[in-house]
Amino acid sequence: MKTGSRLAALSLLLSAVLSLCVCTLSPEQIDPLLYEEQLLWVSGAQGQVSTYRIPLLTFTPKGSLLAFSEARKSTTSDVGAKFLAMRRSTDKGATWSPTTFIVDDGTKPDGLNLGSVVVDEEVGSVILVYSICFHLYQCHPSSTMMVESMDDGLSWSPPRNLSVQLGVKNFAPGPGFGIQKRYNPAKGRLVVCGHGTLEGDGVFCILSDDHGRNWYNGAALKSIPYNQRKQAQDFNPDECQPVEMMDGSIVINVRNQNNYHCRCRIVVRSRDGGLSLPVDDLFFDYELVDPAVAAGALQKDGVLYFTNPSNEQHRVNLTLRWSLTDGNSWVQEAVQIWAGPSGYSSITSLNSDSPEDRKYIFVIYEKGHKDYDETVSFAKIHLFGGR
Ligand SMILES: *[C@@H]1O[C@H](CO)[C@@H](O)[C@H](O)[C@H]1NC(C)=O
Ligand SMILES: *[C@@H]1O[C@H](CO)[C@@H](O)[C@H](O)[C@H]1NC(C)=O
Repeated sequence: MKTGSRLAALSLLLSAVLSLCVCTLSPEQIDPLLYEEQLLWVSGAQGQVSTYRIPLLTFTPKGSLLAFSEARKSTTSDVGAKFLAMRRSTDKGATWSPTTFIVDDGTKPDGLNLGSVVVDEEVGSVILVYSICFHLYQCHPSSTMMVESMDDGLSWSPPRNLSVQLGVKNFAPGPGFGIQKRYNPAKGRLVVCGHGTLEGDGVFCILSDDHGRNWYNGAALKSIPYNQRKQAQDFNPDECQPVEMMDGSIVINVRNQNNYHCRCRIVVRSRDGGLSLPVDDLFFDYELVDPAVAAGALQKDGVLYFTNPSNEQHRVNLTLRWSLTDGNSWVQEAVQIWAGPSGYSSITSLNSDSPEDRKYIFVIYEKGHKDYDETVSFAKIHLFGGR
């Protein structure tokens, strides 16, 4: 063999070995490691805010991470005046900007509630949908609002009232993220799902086919009885997290508010881009034991991830699970992120095709020692045990 062809053979061999190394990061080798964790918000520590709750987390088209929460001004309660707090990371969660308050509802007795964050990758925008006056406490009516950033979260539009188009309805988006459909049907559509009042509850989705300019009402999965006071164990689907599967269907993981049928999660699927949620495609996931809470879900590279406080009674034991079968079964080795009090959680990941970004997911969750609303924590998870 001549030197040249030897070199060629060697480089072929090398690239084969290298691609093998990348191949070794297959879903079967997922072995999540809590790689880095930091507190983004601490309740009571800053002057103007009593309590930080309802954390949201998203990637941006430019590869940044944005974290949001409700900054409840004078009380721990869902009702009351709030800021919408944000922090931003441009280095994959290693460091974060100081908190900025991107919306301030003043002194409203029933102020803003988060919310869903949705990224439109086609136009590069980040949209945040939230409600005001959701509880109808000393105010009327409830409105669905939206703010938008075109510059990677640095600046935000003034709030826009989506109820003008959607009609007046008590709608609490998320909490979590909305999706932009990557696959057909309805590729490009924005899908934001949430829930109604405790009486007129259920999962409802709002849709936009023009990057958030116009919105219309999509699927409704109504509680039973609808618009009537609930009893224990009534069917009452509530806070929810949609994810798009690789076949283009949308799987929504839902809080089972009144413990209908089980103390576990409701899962329902839309095969028409969020227009309908037929009960034919609804099941109870007994493996996902749940105390009735907002949970996190994410589909990344064909693997479905799920976080919640995995306990039938109490908001403790924040746990990460993953499924290699689109949620039909879960790998037995669940990973505990925090044993103590823990509440709402949300998951995201960076979308680039770089090998580095394939290795991580990011979880934001409510974490405390005595109560879950003491802090909001950001956890960077290495999916392959640090390898
Ligand atoms: C939003 O629009 C609805 C419908 O027009 C209206 O009833 C409601 O008062 C508006 N809310 C705000 C905050 O302007
Ligand atoms: C924590 O979650 C795991 C996984 O679901 C479960 O096996 C364990 O019993 C839970 N522990 C507590 C204290 O809830």
